[in-house]
Amino acid sequence: MNFPALIEAKRDGQSLTMDTIRAVIRDFTNGDIPDYQMAAFLMAVFYRGMTPEETEAMTRAMRDSGTVLQWPDDPRPVVDKHSTGGVGDKVSLVLAPLLACLGFRVPMISGRGLGITGGTLDKLESIPGFNTQLPPAQIIEQVQSIGVAMVGQTIDMIPADKMLYALRDVTGTVPSIPLITASILSKKLAEGLQALVMDVKFGSAAFMKTSAEARNLAQSIVRLARECGLNTRALLTNMDVPVGCSAGNWLEVREAVGCLEGDGPGDLQALTIELAASLLLQTGIATDAATARQSILEVLATDAPRKKFDEMVQAQGGDLAAFTRKLQLDKLSPVVMELETLDEGFITSVNAGIIGEVVRDLGGGRRTKESEIDPEVGLDMIARPDEPFGVGSVLARVHARTRDDAEEALRRLKSAFEFQDEPLEPPRTIIEVVQ
Ligand code: URA
Repeated sequence: MNFPALIEAKRDGQSLTMDTIRAVIRDFTNGDIPDYQMAAFLMAVFYRGMTPEETEAMTRAMRDSGTVLQWPDDPRPVVDKHSTGGVGDKVSLVLAPLLACLGFRVPMISGRGLGITGGTLDKLESIPGFNTQLPPAQIIEQVQSIGVAMVGQTIDMIPADKMLYALRDVTGTVPSIPLITASILSKKLAEGLQALVMDVKFGSAAFMKTSAEARNLAQSIVRLARECGLNTRALLTNMDVPVGCSAGNWLEVREAVGCLEGDGPGDLQALTIELAASLLLQTGIATDAATARQSILEVLATDAPRKKFDEMVQAQGGDLAAFTRKLQLDKLSPVVMELETLDEGFITSVNAGIIGEVVRDLGGGRRTKESEIDPEVGLDMIARPDEPFGVGSVLARVHARTRDDAEEALRRLKSAFEFQDEPLEPPRTIIEVVQ
């Protein structure tokens, strides 16, 4: 293949044939196209876009770059949820065990942090011993037995996405509708799902900055998923404000476990319930939204989802005793400092983009493909918009490796919060459903 000519064709706005796209994915996955050429190709796609036919060819080729899961007959529907990425977005950690308790099978394949957004795999790997790299046969066995597995792409499954995702993360080529569509749907189609619910985020910390862009992405995903026979709905959700009160890998696991134990935060719980309700409706298990929400609340009121999380930790090699001990520790990083207010009033906004950048720069995210992340750094006790505060109230707590890192984070965090004397309506999280 003359790959430089294909880069030029894409750069000049031409569309490529389906066979050509398939060959590009095959050759890149086999290591026959170097990263620097693929990065140029991705940048050309970023600027020129792809036709629906090109996106479909890319998606199917990425799915077929590895094993596609085949499920035994079982009355439990195989479902999943995927988010386009946000700051503090630990919904999957709460939702996956909850869905298993609602009678679904959940083979959740997630990604690592991308840009300033966190990744479910990085979060799970902050649990001592937790293994996210399961071969396909083991994913199927675990899901058949306990209803849920939370894993990453391996060399066996969607290797094309694993390689492209890592390259896009460090080449400014993430916020592209065809590339995100292909990345997400290749993973979800490889899971052999019956239904998928998407959380498509927009706002200061999302790849899609406006609701209009998010709607375009949601429509692209829902349309292509339908072409491929996958029942899919998308919720458009606001990402101007972080989800919950913590951002940073381990700190988010701790908050998600708290949520499974019935200890909020409210926005995390509400979003989890709406995504689960969508899947109950999509699979016909519930016939209306009120009944769906009611059955979810009943399951959440039991200790079953929390126990399911531990069951999953054990099934995936986690050290349950060490995990339980770690959950009891309030501070793990060498330096923990608080950002306090000097005044009183109401918080009117919390800029998730700044929060995400601060967490990444504390070491919680990556700047290059090779960067090692520090699972314990980040922020917790992040105040919510609409909260009243007085002199000395904590706006956020910084967990850092050094005092210098913590002080720099505190300095930058000041501009993440806006205040006024009167409360404002808190922003709506879910603004639309695309189906
Ligand atoms: N999530 C994914 O899985 N892929 C993307 O490209 C962006 C978000």
